Amino acid sequence: MTDTTQGPLRTVTVPARLSAPEPGWTTRADVVVIGSGIAGLTAALRIHAEDPSLTLQVVTKDALGAGSTQWAQGGIAAALGPGDTPEEHEHDTLVAGAGACDVEAVRVLVNEGPDAVRELIALGTQFDHHPDGELSLTREGGHHRDRIAHAGGDATGAEIQRALIAAVDKAGIEVIQHALAVDLLPAADGGVAGVTLHVMGEGQHDGVGAVLCRAVVLASGGLGQVFSQSTNPSVSTGDGMALALRAGARLRDLEFVQFHPTVMWLGPESQGQQPLISEAVRGEGAFLVDWDGHRFMTEEHELADLAPRDVVAKAITRRMIETGKPHMWLDARHLGAEFWPKRFPTILAVAREHGVDPVTDLIPVAPAQHYASGGVATDLWGRTNVPGLYATGEVACSGVHGANRLASNSLLEGLVFSRRIAAVLPGELRAWSDPVEDQRPPSVADADDRRPMQEIMTADVGVLRNDAGLRSALDALAVLDEGSDEPRTAVWETSNLLAVSLAMTGAALLRTETRGSHWREDHPDRDESRAGHVDVWLEPGSDVLHWHWEHAPSTDPSTTQETPR
Ligand code: SIN
Repeated sequence: MTDTTQGPLRTVTVPARLSAPEPGWTTRADVVVIGSGIAGLTAALRIHAEDPSLTLQVVTKDALGAGSTQWAQGGIAAALGPGDTPEEHEHDTLVAGAGACDVEAVRVLVNEGPDAVRELIALGTQFDHHPDGELSLTREGGHHRDRIAHAGGDATGAEIQRALIAAVDKAGIEVIQHALAVDLLPAADGGVAGVTLHVMGEGQHDGVGAVLCRAVVLASGGLGQVFSQSTNPSVSTGDGMALALRAGARLRDLEFVQFHPTVMWLGPESQGQQPLISEAVRGEGAFLVDWDGHRFMTEEHELADLAPRDVVAKAITRRMIETGKPHMWLDARHLGAEFWPKRFPTILAVAREHGVDPVTDLIPVAPAQHYASGGVATDLWGRTNVPGLYATGEVACSGVHGANRLASNSLLEGLVFSRRIAAVLPGELRAWSDPVEDQRPPSVADADDRRPMQEIMTADVGVLRNDAGLRSALDALAVLDEGSDEPRTAVWETSNLLAVSLAMTGAALLRTETRGSHWREDHPDRDESRAGHVDVWLEPGSDVLHWHWEHAPSTDPSTTQETPR
């Protein structure tokens, strides 16, 4: 069963390529890796290890380490603990994914995950250990076992990032910082011939230039800045997804945006990156209460406060709507004055900076955007439908997250699928090809459109969605699309954010059911006849978005007769 539309209500256009000055410099590398978090740096290190003769260039929009990996608190999930198995990790991942996971991709993740984490340890990552030397593992929402490895208490991402940067440095891999990837340069067959960059640097590579290459690995992270409040850093502007869309790639399941249930509430006016209160705090025993001190999660799910993330986010939102309160509370006082600084030093410091002491105070929390479960559609080896273009990490949709990512599976996904890309890429590198001229007219949005776009997306494409709101969002966003600003970073970022907002809104309209993190108040139940995937792509040669829904059987073992194994 399929359902195809050029726009659920109207024709929707996005820039087919971004307006930019002609490249002022040109260079060459066999492979360009865009992004410098766990996915990008792992891909670069492993490709280098597979074939050191290949020339590699890592490009990153900000400084190395400014992306989302650095901010990951909870940890990295893998079946490493006594008695745990990849099969149990698979089961929890599929249940959290609410029937929309790709079972083969999940099996790759859980089976290759333990070795991938061991490799990260061998590389120098210092995970936390018990006094007896055993790896310390914790639990987060949706997991039935303690299987989350963590570092520095709640500074896992920062430690992984440190170890990877040191390894990249040691391997002598070239990195260009402060470089925004603008567009792919197409070859005659539609595949990759290069990429244009805007570098804010000094010396040789400054301004817009072209890197001619044989393959591009997109590892540029997520799209959190689409919404007014997100746990993502300011660099998460959907650049990789928008670039891939313009290059002819398919984006999949963009409507599955994960809202983290416990983000510290800083007031109604607070915008941009908000402080995350890791699920690991609930894993260690903290619990949610309403304004009357009532523990409402016990009525919602057998795992109570450790239910899958979408269940907790929905329960908090429902409670907020019912009571008219702007947030709920997390009670972690009983963890104690000794435990807090040891186990959660980062969260403790940030909460105190904002005037809340978790040792003595309840923490005000509300859901905020956290993770894009969808992205650029890939196969099990990170290949997209564009020859020579690979995608890994949050920018990609490998199929492991389905409708709702299981906690701490994201670092693992970047690690596992970047290793897979490195295993195949050197053997299938394209011949060098000259870029051909892209005949489609370039355009950009205005930088000032960013704030109105975020307000529209937050109001109508946020936690709770309905047909009327989504249609009105699509209309309002479509009006913002055409701009007249001079091309520059803020303008390119806004154009990228708008393109992914439009693509996401259309996908959310087409998914007429509630599944995982996609919550439709006008279709409040999961509808197995609507199980499957929503893809979006640009009509070839044009700037018109095209959405396509295709049925696929549910892969949730808790609701299907047979376990899918
Ligand atoms: C958290 O620590 O709660 C976030 C971890 C994740 O998003 O996987």
